[in-house]
Amino acid sequence: MTVLVTGGAGYIGSHMVLDLVDRGEDVVVLDNLSTGFAAAVPDGVPLVKGDMGDMALVRETIARHRVDAIAHFAARIVVPESVADPLGYYLNNTSKSRSLIQAAVDAGIRDFIFSSTAAVYGNPATNPVTEETPPNPVSPYGRSKLMTEWMLEDTARATGLRYAILRYFNVAGADPRGRAGQSTPQATHLIKVACQAALGRRDGMDVFGTDFPTPDGSCLRDYIHVSDLARAHLLALDHLREGGENLLLNCAYGKGYSVLDVVETVKRVSGKDFQVRRGPRRAGDPAAIVATGEKIRRTLGWRPAHENLEEIVRHALAWESRLGEPAVA
Ligand code: UFG
Repeated sequence: MTVLVTGGAGYIGSHMVLDLVDRGEDVVVLDNLSTGFAAAVPDGVPLVKGDMGDMALVRETIARHRVDAIAHFAARIVVPESVADPLGYYLNNTSKSRSLIQAAVDAGIRDFIFSSTAAVYGNPATNPVTEETPPNPVSPYGRSKLMTEWMLEDTARATGLRYAILRYFNVAGADPRGRAGQSTPQATHLIKVACQAALGRRDGMDVFGTDFPTPDGSCLRDYIHVSDLARAHLLALDHLREGGENLLLNCAYGKGYSVLDVVETVKRVSGKDFQVRRGPRRAGDPAAIVATGEKIRRTLGWRPAHENLEEIVRHALAWESRLGEPAVA
């Protein structure tokens, strides 16, 4: 039997594919390559180039590869972009997810893992959040993901589908063995941007807001290593396969770092100084979002192996150096 990984040519999905292949599972990737890269899919893993909203293609892929579980990563993920293009986000992240879930139900697929996000919490009244904290997204991105969570929960009540919803906090770093990483040159993620600045691939960087109600005025986030996150997916898959209950879990370490902390860490680890411009706030950014990460440890026995900001930055820098990208304007 085979695991269908949507968005498996993208940053996080490609790490999950590696982990699945490493433990001998059959995998098929479905990716429209809008932000992913065919080269991110390991040799021997079939890549179906297409859209997860294309139900005929999904049905055919499920049948041809005898898919029995879906890990659904494919999404648009940039918060400010979602503010500018909400309908694009609702189409891609919500409507097309609905089509994928329908195809899964029609094919009798039981186990479904969904990439959700800390953005569903919006600007929480208190930190750290837990899974009991009421969702209150402040961006179309967060709302587009929350609606898909609700579809999964409602569908699971009405059909045999079972789900693991994983709410990612700020994912960063790269495969410690250097096989995968964040490859999109225009990526907006802080650690990626700071690494590009450290390597001279961009002309310094901007800090979006230093007037937030946080200790140093910049935003606080809970940064988690992409390989620890991929491992959480494997544990969630095993849990579902063994007949475990539906899951809703935050994926986080429980420690907040400010944007300025991260910038300093990148400078220290890289040994490179670069210009840091203090600019205005970016649309849709919550001031602080950190989770306890307690439930995932308890429920799945998840034990992070890279719970260290310096190590995350080291791996991100190593991957960035290997990429050898052209300079970003
Ligand atoms: N930031 C800068 N300068 C940059 C890039 C980012 O100051 O050049 C700041 C942002 O304003 C924010 C923080 O760094 O305060 C982190 O920004 P990211 O873009 O790295 O990440 P976000 O917190 O916006 O969003 C990420 C993912 C989402 C996920 C969210 C959960 O992109 O998918 O984390 O917290 F939902």
